[in-house]
Amino acid sequence: MNRRVFIQGAGLITFLLSGCGLALQSSDAQTADQTSKGGDKMKITIITGSPHKNGTSALLADKFIEGSQKAGHEVFRFNAAFEDIHPCLGCDRCGMNGPCVHQDAIAKKLQPELIAADLVVFVTPLYYFGMSAQLKTVIDRFYASNVKLSGSGKKAILMATAYDDKDWTMSVLTQHYQTVVKYLGWEDIGTVLAVGCGSRPLIERSEFPEQAYQMGLKI
Ligand SMILES: Cc1cc2nc3c(=O)[nH]c(=O)nc-3n(C[C@H](O)[C@H](O)[C@H](O)COP(=O)(O)O)c2cc1C
Repeated sequence: MNRRVFIQGAGLITFLLSGCGLALQSSDAQTADQTSKGGDKMKITIITGSPHKNGTSALLADKFIEGSQKAGHEVFRFNAAFEDIHPCLGCDRCGMNGPCVHQDAIAKKLQPELIAADLVVFVTPLYYFGMSAQLKTVIDRFYASNVKLSGSGKKAILMATAYDDKDWTMSVLTQHYQTVVKYLGWEDIGTVLAVGCGSRPLIERSEFPEQAYQMGLKI
């Protein structure tokens, strides 16, 4: 069986990784649903997952970028739906720490920015209560950089839009996001969950674009 053990520095988080899955053994990684206040200039990588260039989640991304650039942060934006990307084949040729067999936009454009980022912002429309396939494709490809990304102390934000506005509409998406962030040993510093925002007029009338802007401004 292909089995490896990684010990992470600060939190001594032990990852047991096997050919059939990933397991986390730690309670050290904590997440907070608050934005951090002030601080140094950051390198931000924002990954969007909608096929709509001027859609609802794109507006959240635009507003967040507007705020964060005003605050002086450096932003790299990767629009997964408009890039040449391929899903992970699970071939394990990367060994979780090496070049991917796919030398596409994820490997060539996103990966260096991802590794260098202080903050990673995930932006997605809600698709069947989870993230879009475009965003999931990118996250699965973290596998080739897993060793570099794990325990790298990055901060993370999730922004999402959905038609429904039930109190459980975003629960599976946020749980998935928080689990990925915890596994990687990153810190969740906030979410913008734009429920009841299934179209551009709906989100433009809502408070969520301003929330995204303020989050970008205040990180
Ligand atoms: C394939 C698909 C699945 C969707 N699934 C959900 C869903 O589970 N819950 C929901 O509230 N809205 C769902 N929606 C609506 C979108 O989340 C919503 O319209 C969103 O604002 C689209 O974001 P965008 O404009 O950034 O693409 C779905 C839309 C599509 C196309």
